[in-house]
Amino acid sequence: MDSRTSTPPAARHASAPALAAAPDAPDILCRDLVRIFVTEGLEVQALQGLNLRVDPGEIVAVVGASGSGKSTLLSILSGLDRPTGGSAEVAGADLLALGRRARVEYQRSTVGFVWQQAARNLLPYLTAVQNVAVPLTITRTAGRRARALELLDLLGVAHCHDRLPSQMSGGQQQRVAIAVAVANSPRVLLADEPTGELDETTSGEVLDMLRAVNAETGVTTLIVTHDPTVSEHVARTVQIRDGRTSTEVLRRTERAADGSERHVAEEFAVLDRVGRFQLPPEHVETLGLRDRVRLSLEADHVRVSPDGAPPAGGSTERALPADPRGRHATPGTTDQGGLS
Ligand SMILES: Nc1ncnc2c1ncn2[C@@H]1O[C@H](COP(=O)(O)OP(=O)(O)OP(=O)(O)O)[C@@H](O)[C@H]1O
Ligand SMILES: [Mg+2]
Repeated sequence: MDSRTSTPPAARHASAPALAAAPDAPDILCRDLVRIFVTEGLEVQALQGLNLRVDPGEIVAVVGASGSGKSTLLSILSGLDRPTGGSAEVAGADLLALGRRARVEYQRSTVGFVWQQAARNLLPYLTAVQNVAVPLTITRTAGRRARALELLDLLGVAHCHDRLPSQMSGGQQQRVAIAVAVANSPRVLLADEPTGELDETTSGEVLDMLRAVNAETGVTTLIVTHDPTVSEHVARTVQIRDGRTSTEVLRRTERAADGSERHVAEEFAVLDRVGRFQLPPEHVETLGLRDRVRLSLEADHVRVSPDGAPPAGGSTERALPADPRGRHATPGTTDQGGLS
């Protein structure tokens, strides 16, 4: 499609600062991430020990209800906010340890962002091509106009290059915003509700465009949204509930013997490093699980049953407390975080 198609990933990211990432290191790694806001003496736990790993070149959607902590997560990953506890690393940069200068450099070269509001992404008095040239000017990149036009072409909005944001549709503005975000070939692209102001069809187009940019440039991409239909556009969707990752949906395409293709989506519970996971609320409700559940180790699975259920014969059994949101710990863990 453009000259960057054949550029090896190492060369593509040559403008990023030298970061001490191991070759197989993830591009995003959050461990037990906690963010507590205190306003007028009241504490809000926006992130409550969130774990997330995104490998280089992956495109992942994080979905969750309003208030589940999505924007808080992105603010931390973009270097705008600091977590209260836990750790967050992006492309080898430890976000808790970054000093002021390194943080500015990180925001210029390592990560790109797309926000929900077009007004936050683009300068209203600059044309599309001028907007894309802004980050290139900051990093003193040569051949800015040509690079900006190439990116607008990649995003399918080359015909809008001379228009001001007010002269473009919402979808066109978001495509230009993606071009701005990837102009400096960041390692990681972060998008917070990039389709929040768009109708369903245009949303789908912008999401497909994010996926195309991810495939074309190899930029690791994290999209957060409350829109569950995003999972139709990406291979991996992580559900965030109460400030923690709870389930993941993985999509893959299977080819039958007759050559026909079918898309398969499978949902998994996310297990953290100490063996905790969240039971889906439907399961908790259907079985009337409360306070405590019985766990029994079977030959190839773990059974979870209500406290009052008869013990399973011949299996190793433990009764463990469960909190109202369905979280519990695996037997043998000493961490009490999920045993409230
Ligand atoms: N600066 C802040 N001060 C106090 N509380 C905050 C602050 N920012 C976020 N919160 C609270 O943290 C929780 C998570 O907020 P966040 O904005 O991350 O949610 P979200 O998942 O992005 O929601 P939405 O889908 O509505 O954008 C909410 O309860 C919110 O009120
Ligand atoms: Mg938000």
